[in-house]
Amino acid sequence: MTDSTLSLVAVNAGLGDPSSTRLLIDRLVDAAVDELGAVRATVEVVDLRDLAVDIARSMTSGFALGDAREAIARVHDADGLIVATPVFNASYSGLFKSFFDLVEVDRMQGKPVLVAATGGSPRHSMVLDHAIRPLFSYLRAVVVPTGVYAAAEDWAGTSGDTALLSDRVRRAAAELAAAMRAARPDLPTDGAPVGDRSTAAAGVDVTQTALEAAGIANFAKLLGDKG
Ligand SMILES: Cc1cc2nc3c(=O)[nH]c(=O)nc-3n(C[C@H](O)[C@H](O)[C@H](O)COP(=O)(O)O)c2cc1C
Repeated sequence: MTDSTLSLVAVNAGLGDPSSTRLLIDRLVDAAVDELGAVRATVEVVDLRDLAVDIARSMTSGFALGDAREAIARVHDADGLIVATPVFNASYSGLFKSFFDLVEVDRMQGKPVLVAATGGSPRHSMVLDHAIRPLFSYLRAVVVPTGVYAAAEDWAGTSGDTALLSDRVRRAAAELAAAMRAARPDLPTDGAPVGDRSTAAAGVDVTQTALEAAGIANFAKLLGDKG
């Protein structure tokens, strides 16, 4: 990626046509681009459904092949990721897991990742925290505090959830954008002077600080702090 542009890659494991997971990805991407503000960003959505055969062939050959190889390279090079899977039998889908089994752990280290999932039932929202988040923690990525789960009723707005889907999308996207910006302090924003490139070496620590600040703010809100 060029020095002055951030690369945002979204990985969609939805299989439906239309796909509710892709719909969620599109909302998250729009919100993230919005939150990145003046920072230039390139966006790419990888639909794993189109890569299913290459992913399966890659699994049996032991290395990424064909279009799957290209997609993995994009993920490796990304400054930030949005990943979303449908819930299948109370976990991520096999296709989602197979794809991320092809990445190199060292190329994921410190990468900001927003995790998301869709399901038929709201009761499986914990999939974010018991399956997807641990996978990316193992890969040493930096998972933003807010994960986004959308059940069928969330799309209709009838879930009665106190934090509406659009609020969760906005909050998660803001956290991802903050983490991506913090990891690249050299990027110009809003006409501000370009930072010293040497500070980019501290990217992971700066990212962590931004995430902690976002987490504390969210927690304060849950406790009723209106400020
Ligand atoms: C094989 C299979 C297993 C599923 N298991 C679950 C499940 O355990 N929990 C759940 O909430 N939804 C489950 N679903 C529903 C899907 O997660 C849901 O329809 C999802 O939003 C589909 O995403 P898509 O439209 O992007 O393909 C399952 C669907 C399939 C096909």
